[in-house]
Amino acid sequence: MKKIEAIIRHSLYKKVKYALRDIGINFFTMYEVKGRGLQKGDAIKYRGSVINTDYISRLQIEIIANDDKVEAIVDAILNSARTGEVGDGKIVISPVEKIIRIRTGDVQDNAL
Ligand SMILES: Nc1ncnc2c1ncn2[C@@H]1O[C@H](COP(=O)(O)OP(=O)(O)OP(=O)(O)O)[C@@H](O)[C@H]1O
Ligand SMILES: [Mg+2]
Repeated sequence: MKKIEAIIRHSLYKKVKYALRDIGINFFTMYEVKGRGLQKGDAIKYRGSVINTDYISRLQIEIIANDDKVEAIVDAILNSARTGEVGDGKIVISPVEKIIRIRTGDVQDNAL
C-alpha cells in the first residue's frame, strides 16, 4: 500500500480529478499548500506592478492506494497536471503501514 502525494496547479484540479475518476480512483484528500521550488517563489502582477512573493500556492492531493494501482495513478496525474512550464509540481510516493476505515474497523484493502 502506498501514499501518493501530488502537488498540482489549482487551475488543473478538475482535469486531474477526472483523470483519476477515469481510472476508478474517486477518493483523495486535498490541501491548499504554499511552498517553493527551484525558482524560489513567484512573481505576480498587482495593480500594474510586479511583486515577488516568497512562495507559490498549489493544491496537494493525497491518495492511499494498493501497489498495483500506483503506476496508473502516477500516469493519470502526469498526463493531466503537466503544462511543460516551470511550477507544474511534484509527485511523491511513500509506503503506508496501515489504513483503517473508522465506521467498520476494516483494514488494508478492505478499507479502501
Ligand atoms: N524538494 C521539494 N520538497 C518539498 N516540496 C517541494 C520540493 N520541490 C517542490 N516542492 C513543492 O512543489 C511546489 C511546486 O514546485 P515546482 O513545480 O516549482 O518544482 P521545481 O523543482 O521548481 O520544478 P520546475 O522547475 O518545473 O518549476 C513548490 O512550491 C513546493 O511547494
Ligand atoms: Mg519551480
